[in-house]
Amino acid sequence: MNRNEQKVVLVTGASAGIGKATVELLLQEGYIVYGAARRIEQMKDIESKGARIIAMDVTDETSMSNGVYRIIREQGRIDVLFNNAGYGAYGAVEDVPLEEARRQFEVNLFGLSRLTQLVLPYMRRQKSGKIINTSSAGGKVYTLLGAWYHAAKHALEGFSDCLRVEVKPFGIDVIIIEPGATDSEWAEVVFEHVQTTSGSTAYSIMADAFIKALKKPGAVYPPTRIAHLVSKAIRSKKPKTRYVAGNARPVILVRRILSDRMFDRILYRAFNI
Ligand SMILES: NC(=O)c1ccc[n+]([C@@H]2O[C@H](COP(=O)([O-])OP(=O)(O)OC[C@H]3O[C@@H](n4cnc5c(N)ncnc54)[C@H](OP(=O)(O)O)[C@@H]3O)[C@@H](O)[C@H]2O)c1
Repeated sequence: MNRNEQKVVLVTGASAGIGKATVELLLQEGYIVYGAARRIEQMKDIESKGARIIAMDVTDETSMSNGVYRIIREQGRIDVLFNNAGYGAYGAVEDVPLEEARRQFEVNLFGLSRLTQLVLPYMRRQKSGKIINTSSAGGKVYTLLGAWYHAAKHALEGFSDCLRVEVKPFGIDVIIIEPGATDSEWAEVVFEHVQTTSGSTAYSIMADAFIKALKKPGAVYPPTRIAHLVSKAIRSKKPKTRYVAGNARPVILVRRILSDRMFDRILYRAFNI
């Protein structure tokens, strides 16, 4: 890519897992990449590889608007927003404080929507752009102790579909990425939430079984697999509306085929409950 062809990309959640792997891949592919997260010390490695680092909390208006304005000031444009920051506020509904539930939506949905609002005027002016949102197989299925995470990811699926039809006439694509289990810091954060929220309540047996089942070695993808899906979506002239990771496909298919009660039974069996 020569300088004039280089696309400008903003990746959130760039300090770990899927976001960091995507920044590294896009840098190798010649993009101008801005990586955003709260822990800037965790982004020194990608900075040394050429990423521009932004300290950003997606629950904080000032850090989000400053981040976007900096990109426009430095590059004059923004071609891709990869909305990827997220975490899982797992725990039983009875136990999760509503303040934490609201925070789950702030990070996984409202932060992403605010960043989208901030970049859209520039993308409309350019008559082009791609907004890529990391959902999850969990945006299509459900599991034990995941009410707020799944609610936020299901909401993100609906939000992204509505946004896609709104902005298509302006030349802007909206793309959903649906990873399955991926090797990152995500699971550790989930274990911590489950343990502290429901580890010693009426749901403790379920919490223990949940952690045990998730810790079993299984079909976990490296985050680079998701990075390649994002890269494919960026390169495509006619991107798909959804890119489903290979290991997310079977669970989404099973959910589609089975009745709710049958899927519930499979969950209990999978978690040994
Ligand atoms: N791993 C999986 O199995 C899996 C499966 C399906 C979907 N996903 C989704 O994939 C996305 C990336 O997760 P991951 O697996 O890469 O997990 P991860 O390794 O835990 O990375 C999460 C990223 O989100 C950032 N983040 C969290 N809260 C933030 C906030 N308030 N403001 C700004 N950044 C914030 C973190 O950065 P800081 O803490 O430095 O801010 C970190 O860079 C998430 O949306 C997740 O739900 C993951």
